[in-house]
Amino acid sequence: KKKLIIDTDPGIDDAMAILAAFNSEEVEVIGICTIFGNVKTSTATDNAFILLNLAGQPEVPVAEGASTSLKGLTKEHIADFVHGTDGFGNTSQAAVDGRTVGKHAAEWLVDTVNTHPGDISVLALGPLTNIALALQLDERVTRNMAELVVLGGAFFVNGNVNPAGVCPPARMLDAALLALHETDKLTLMLLLTRLCFGWAVEANIFSDPEAADLVFGHEANIRVVGLDVTHSCQFTAEDLQGLAGQGRFGTFLQQITRFYLQYHRDAYNMEAVYVHDPTAFAAVIQPERFTWKAGPLRVLTEGIARGMTVLDAGSKKWNSPNGWTGRPKVQVAVAVQGEPVVASLLQR
Ligand code: BDR
Ligand code: CA
Repeated sequence: KKKLIIDTDPGIDDAMAILAAFNSEEVEVIGICTIFGNVKTSTATDNAFILLNLAGQPEVPVAEGASTSLKGLTKEHIADFVHGTDGFGNTSQAAVDGRTVGKHAAEWLVDTVNTHPGDISVLALGPLTNIALALQLDERVTRNMAELVVLGGAFFVNGNVNPAGVCPPARMLDAALLALHETDKLTLMLLLTRLCFGWAVEANIFSDPEAADLVFGHEANIRVVGLDVTHSCQFTAEDLQGLAGQGRFGTFLQQITRFYLQYHRDAYNMEAVYVHDPTAFAAVIQPERFTWKAGPLRVLTEGIARGMTVLDAGSKKWNSPNGWTGRPKVQVAVAVQGEPVVASLLQR
């Protein structure tokens, strides 16, 4: 059984992932760290207590984390139009009393992970601020994790956040500058297409690009699950309706996902929802269902594509030292067996 800490901003798909984890024999959830993102951090903490109560696991420690990004930014990150102001699709869930561990999540992570080096897996489902702060406290912390699985990034596909006011030619220019670091023509083409025709950045990374770039710069067993694969993992409107009355969590999930489904209808014209965070959880328990590509990974922290993730996907002629030298390899998911992953998540 993997011992698992979940760092999260619940959040509808976070709730799905967390509840799926509590229905999975492969893992034992030993703690929840909270972070801003879909909601502000204090709401994420309140929601963690609601989920633990629902799962009958009120004794699982909850450590509250950062309420701003490394650079001190707040507010603009709250995604109430996707998850509702309460993070649970405006369903007015009854509050559950709970007490946090009384330490900042970053400190709690360092203490817990470093006391059991190599034993604990961490699943990060929100901005990477807590993990980055933990690294600033003790840079051994991610190396001491058995693995760090991250939901974040859009590598060879569009993102889901629109850097406001960006005009296509300006995007082109940024992409061209970026491409100076790329010797791989296919990657170059993909980057240009992505910048010209769509959103460049994924939401979790967008909320704290500095944190993400710092985390990916430290040698550790890191696997990153981005929109490249989560877009292949969807629950249909029918799947969601069918959850009502099923298992311990079905009715709750059916209720909170109504709002999330409406967002997907409005924003993407879909009769289904993306299950981003559950897909990252699937990568913890079924990594063999994903295709992984290893390479150094950078996150743009400046310019109009701030938050964009760029993977050096392995050009043989690689020779640009600028900003890449010494960067460790990170595993990035580039394909997934969508059907069995979705079936297994739905069942959990
Ligand atoms: C990510 O952003 C959040 O809205 C979701 O919970 C997920 O973690 C997807 O981009
Ligand atoms: Ca999330």
